Amino acid sequence: MLLEGKAMVVTGGNSGIGEQICIAAAAEGANIVIDYVAHPEATNALIEKIEQAGGKAVGVEADITKAADLQKMIQTAVDTYGRLDVLVNNAGIEDRKSLLEETEEGYEKVMAVNMKSAFFGTQFAAKQFIAQNTPGLILNISSVHEDWPMPGNIAYCVAKGGMRMLARTAGVELGDKGIRVVNIAPGAVDTPINTSTTSNPEQLKKLDAAIPLGRLAKPSEIADVVVFLASGKASYMTSTTVTIDGGITQGSVGL
Ligand code: BGC
Repeated sequence: MLLEGKAMVVTGGNSGIGEQICIAAAAEGANIVIDYVAHPEATNALIEKIEQAGGKAVGVEADITKAADLQKMIQTAVDTYGRLDVLVNNAGIEDRKSLLEETEEGYEKVMAVNMKSAFFGTQFAAKQFIAQNTPGLILNISSVHEDWPMPGNIAYCVAKGGMRMLARTAGVELGDKGIRVVNIAPGAVDTPINTSTTSNPEQLKKLDAAIPLGRLAKPSEIADVVVFLASGKASYMTSTTVTIDGGITQGSVGL
């Protein structure tokens, strides 16, 4: 198994890409920490799926926009599994507004969930790896929009652009300690974040047509790459981004 006994914290593990990451990692032997907000039962179904897949899991009440709660998730990995091997900064939200429409509240929420959580999660994970004196890996679920404008979704693009530089800079700062930071940039994935498009046949047709592979990704197609990156098979990768987008960013209108 590729991730036998590895302790992994996955923020936002309860839905979409995060859920599939937990299940795919568990199937390769990982032990997982996930977060829930207020209702422990929200994680019960997922913990069951993770256990069925062959891994272990524990849920922590945490608001991942609060640094102290991120620290609590990492401490839970240490208390439960004796260590931390991989942090997946996966939690993400959108607020589909243009620059002219965006509010202070919407901006702050998008930045807190997507960017601040990844920043402090990375800091705490790195401190834990240093304390353990082990190499470690931080994976950020970024987006093609870390480097590709999505008009009408500007706060999200700004946050993902920040994540791009988080991986670049933290990877350089931590390289001599054997700690690696890698971003994964999915394109359009069939998850709740895209429901407004997938539930509208006209819009879905337009989106599929813009993707060279002709369809959205399944969340498992992102999770499989996460498993590969978290395995010992990607040990020379850091400060970079792996794009998984069905070709969308290279698409052309074919005039
Ligand atoms: C966004 C989606 C968008 C996709 C491709 C993702 O990061 O969350 O809303 O469809 O990128 O543009």
